[in-house]
Amino acid sequence: MKQLTHYEIDNSQKKFPITIVCDTIRTPENIGMAFRVAESFGVSKIYLHESSPSTENRTVKRTARNTINQIEFENYSDFNSLISELKKEGNTIIGIEVTDKSTHIQNYDFSKNEKLVLLLGSERNGIEHINLVDDTVEIPMYGRNSSMNVIHSLSITLYEVTNQLNIKNTIANEVK
Ligand SMILES: C[S@@+](CC[C@H](N)C(=O)[O-])C[C@H]1O[C@@H](n2cnc3c(N)ncnc32)[C@H](O)[C@@H]1O
Repeated sequence: MKQLTHYEIDNSQKKFPITIVCDTIRTPENIGMAFRVAESFGVSKIYLHESSPSTENRTVKRTARNTINQIEFENYSDFNSLISELKKEGNTIIGIEVTDKSTHIQNYDFSKNEKLVLLLGSERNGIEHINLVDDTVEIPMYGRNSSMNVIHSLSITLYEVTNQLNIKNTIANEVK
């Protein structure tokens, strides 16, 4: 067995109908990592709050590597208007958050929705306008802390969502 080099790895590149909306995330490393992991999982677009560190920030750029140039993004100022616009465009808004109504991620059927928005909370306050979301999903945790890093939760969520969407596509192709 040998580890493959960068030049030997040829991913089957795909874009999924997934948009990420970041609430007021404050840490530049988290913004950079959001880009990096979103690009890895074929996310279509990222929305960042205007008060979050900009994509010109050195730490954001360093953490994101080149992915800022590989994925579409936009800043927003008003959360309510953005969410209602995305709903009008046919997106289901899924809050990644621990709430009294959240479904464990492995039990949520992401493939039933045509277009998904994954909404992430800020490091300090979580998702502030939780009542605007259609559903919430939580990642079960087994340690002592009540929450994990926001981008760790994004990574786990993107793995689960793309896995479910790939399985749905495979089944659809087999039926044809
Ligand atoms: C550090 S947490 C926010 C803190 C928490 N809401 C509080 O005030 O104690 C930042 C974000 O990470 C995500 N997150 C963290 N742990 C999670 C989990 N177990 N399941 C789903 N999302 C999680 C959520 O989007 C959350 O808003």
